[in-house]
Amino acid sequence: MTTPLAGEPSRSLLPAARLRGEPRLPGDKSVSHRALILAALAEGDCLISGAGDGRDVQATAGIIAALGATVERIREDGLNIDYRVASPGADGLHEPEGVLDCRNSGTSLRLCSGVLAGLPFFAVLDGDVSLRSRPVARIIEPLRSMGAALYARRSDTLPPLVVMGRPRLRAIDFTTRVPSAQVKSAILLAGLRAEGSTTVREAVATRDHTERMLRARGIEVRREPETSSGGGPVAWTLDGGARLRPVDERVPADPSAAAFWLVAGAIHPDAELTLRAVGVNPTRRAAIDFLIRMGARIEETPEGETAAAGVPSNAGEPLADLKVRSSELQAIDLGPDEVASAIDEIPILCLAATQARGKTAIRGAGELRNKESDRIAGIANGLRALGARVAVDGDDITIEGPTQLVGSATQTLDDHRLAMTFAVAGLIASGSTSIDRADSAAVSYPSFFTELERLRA
Ligand code: S3P
Repeated sequence: MTTPLAGEPSRSLLPAARLRGEPRLPGDKSVSHRALILAALAEGDCLISGAGDGRDVQATAGIIAALGATVERIREDGLNIDYRVASPGADGLHEPEGVLDCRNSGTSLRLCSGVLAGLPFFAVLDGDVSLRSRPVARIIEPLRSMGAALYARRSDTLPPLVVMGRPRLRAIDFTTRVPSAQVKSAILLAGLRAEGSTTVREAVATRDHTERMLRARGIEVRREPETSSGGGPVAWTLDGGARLRPVDERVPADPSAAAFWLVAGAIHPDAELTLRAVGVNPTRRAAIDFLIRMGARIEETPEGETAAAGVPSNAGEPLADLKVRSSELQAIDLGPDEVASAIDEIPILCLAATQARGKTAIRGAGELRNKESDRIAGIANGLRALGARVAVDGDDITIEGPTQLVGSATQTLDDHRLAMTFAVAGLIASGSTSIDRADSAAVSYPSFFTELERLRA
């Protein structure tokens, strides 16, 4: 049972006797943002089917509309949306009249900065209180060295961010300081407007949706080494000046949203859940593999329903159906590179660790402090409130399990991934678990609480 508290966007949950069914998943947030942005850069019309209709992706839709693309919401169901985008192409976009509102979305902020760096006008990117605490020096530095002028609050470290773009940028060869797909993507998007070849090098391979989707739109993006099974250092190069073709996109189901149900199914004593057509790109599937390493009973059927129905993602994203059953979990040890590969799933993996036998160590997780909230503090405080044994030492988190969680009040810090993590905890905690600002789940997963209610029915 989930009841909104009077006058508050909070929820309280009682434990579930059993979990069964097929939760509907939002379209992948990362792919949805990119599909909209690339649609705005390509001259012509494209259809984006099954984009996630969370607030973050809506922010990007608003930004490309403010730049001159026509964005039509043609079918929506409260979770996902089909968009038709008609764009004059990058050269036909215009200066926005007002501030571009990224709301809570770091991806909108960083990726759109890369686009704006190569457009000859003035733009200001801003967002909510959380967004104003997200670091921007990491994009200002490379985009300035490409010739764009960027300024931000607090000595160029925090939004609002001003971008004065240039019609022609300089190509750069840049090594990212922190593993970040947003920074890599911003540079590659700016590289489309640069003279010469732009290269981004990363010590740990981050999600490669931008690269795949650019290739699907006719841009030659070179990878070094050419292939590898995820992980490891990688360099991406593209030549400036090429034009994108408009391409229809079918967005895969979001693996980061799926992770909440994979953990729910694994830690609940009477569960069987099926997730359809989940994106299992090698640069996104680390959390699935970590859960399997922990002993989660996850069955994977490659391809999945969407591909089988003959409408695969155009960006060549691999899909799979995933089935999870109640499991006996063991502790796991994750180093910094592994943390980087599952950066969005660490909060829900921490919950899994509270139910795993032994001491789970998550080392080098400092980047979690730069997300929608300080996720190290947020997850440690929330799980401790539920009775979990969590220790934090600098950037390292240690969790000892298994612990019977006890329902209590948890604080989401307005962070969607914390809200959903504590809600899943509430399915196994004794008594009532309350989640303040539970509504923040709608940033990435608008129907999350509806799905949760259906699964326990
Ligand atoms: C994203 C990259 C990651 C991730 C975010 C989405 C993307 O951020 O945490 O949710 O779509 O490129 P960083 O690049 O800051 O690691």
